[in-house]
Amino acid sequence: MASDRPAIHDWTRDEIRAFGYRVVDLIAQHLTELPERPVFRPVPADLQRQLLDGTLPEDGRPAMEVLDEFARQIEPYPFGNGHPRFFGWVNSPPAVIGIFADALAAAMNPSCAGGNHAAVFVERQVVQWFTRLFGFPRGSMGLLVSGGSMASLTALAVARHVKVGFDIRAKGLQEPHARIVVYKTAEGHGCTQKAIELLGLGSENIRIVAHDANLRMLPSSLETALAVDEANGCIPMAVIASAGTVNTGAIDPIGDLADICERHRVWLHVDGAYGAPAILSSRYSTELAALARSDSLALDPHKWLYVPVEAGLVLIRDADAMRQAFSLVPPYLRTDGSATGVGGPPWLSEFGFQQTRSFRALKVWMCVKHHGLSGYKAAIEHDLSMADRLAERVRRSPDLQLFTPQRLSIVCFRYAPAGLRANRSRLNEINERLLQRLQLDGRVFVSSTIIDETFWLRACVINYRTTGTDVDVLPELVTSLGADLSPPSVDY
Ligand SMILES: Cc1ncc(COP(=O)(O)O)c(C=O)c1O
Repeated sequence: MASDRPAIHDWTRDEIRAFGYRVVDLIAQHLTELPERPVFRPVPADLQRQLLDGTLPEDGRPAMEVLDEFARQIEPYPFGNGHPRFFGWVNSPPAVIGIFADALAAAMNPSCAGGNHAAVFVERQVVQWFTRLFGFPRGSMGLLVSGGSMASLTALAVARHVKVGFDIRAKGLQEPHARIVVYKTAEGHGCTQKAIELLGLGSENIRIVAHDANLRMLPSSLETALAVDEANGCIPMAVIASAGTVNTGAIDPIGDLADICERHRVWLHVDGAYGAPAILSSRYSTELAALARSDSLALDPHKWLYVPVEAGLVLIRDADAMRQAFSLVPPYLRTDGSATGVGGPPWLSEFGFQQTRSFRALKVWMCVKHHGLSGYKAAIEHDLSMADRLAERVRRSPDLQLFTPQRLSIVCFRYAPAGLRANRSRLNEINERLLQRLQLDGRVFVSSTIIDETFWLRACVINYRTTGTDVDVLPELVTSLGADLSPPSVDY
């Protein structure tokens, strides 16, 4: 590590240890000091300039200096999600064991494209665990991917391969064919629209199916839409349902949708990126048991299972279909499936788009082994109870309004004193300004959403670090900031 040695050299064991211990100290400091710091603070303008100064390093510098720079410039300005009072979007703090798993995976640095090495078996084991957890049959398959978006893209690529009725891999979408359509509600996540666009199907061919007052897809509307499309000679490819929408945590009636998909021979894909792990909770286990009937399921260990980003998972009921949708084995690769030789089991790269694939399975494997299903059940139930507590506080406050139904661990609410309740545009404006103040205030962090033209503050508690006291700060602060922004003399 001395500065007169080339930057790329084999570090000695002592060099590795000295640097590693310093890294571990920084990790310990970061995680334990976070709760005392502001939840979020923007990168100061002068630091932004330094970070973007555009100079490409010509000469290397000692590793410790680089680490010091990290400690000075980067570590103090996190996204916010490690903090116990961060309730924005769907971003959790990392499980500590996952942090170290990432380092160990990088130390081994395999490609999990395939082969007869341990990482491949770890990934297969992780996939198998989750197929069991969600009741997928033997013969199902899956892959670890970057996140929920990639999981849905992968699943819908398989659905397209199976359902369009011609050889999509050879023909593409160049030749005339019937209109290929998919179905989702307006509450479905935007990543599935991106996937449909990327797959060449076109967002105009997404049928937005009506939802009920609880924001769940209406099976009768789906049935009608399918009948109309079938009568018009379209190819209904897939129904994209949600097990926990990002806005409010709504769960579509998966069992009813599965019945309809079975009758119409349509692929059922479920986006469970956020909500699927709630199958472990007593409250949602029955409702989510129907996930076992989906053809594919996207979920995100990097959300409610606290695995450090990135860790998404796609499960596909029909392993052969998955392989046929992606497999392409050039002569330079050996994927002969010899159990004792170099090839190992069928290569994972045959089941997805990536060739070189990271060892992201290790962090999932270590997290699941360390916490166990019972640990996760307790953590998820803790988050649900924190969300209950927040919802209850909001309900009791005369100046706040709760969005109902409140589902999973998402609580949408807004500042809405009685005198302003009827004035939607004024309330929208107040709450938008309130959100900006709240996010920069540093005491607590939430994001927002719009449902039926109403602006809501949105808290998602997927945070094992959160305590009741952390949650209680939020309604108090919203009430006082709201009062500042809407003085009675002006508005009443
Ligand atoms: C319901 C839902 N689906 C899909 C996604 C996309 O997942 P990712 O960001 O991991 O790609 C998210 C992200 O928040 C989500 O909440």
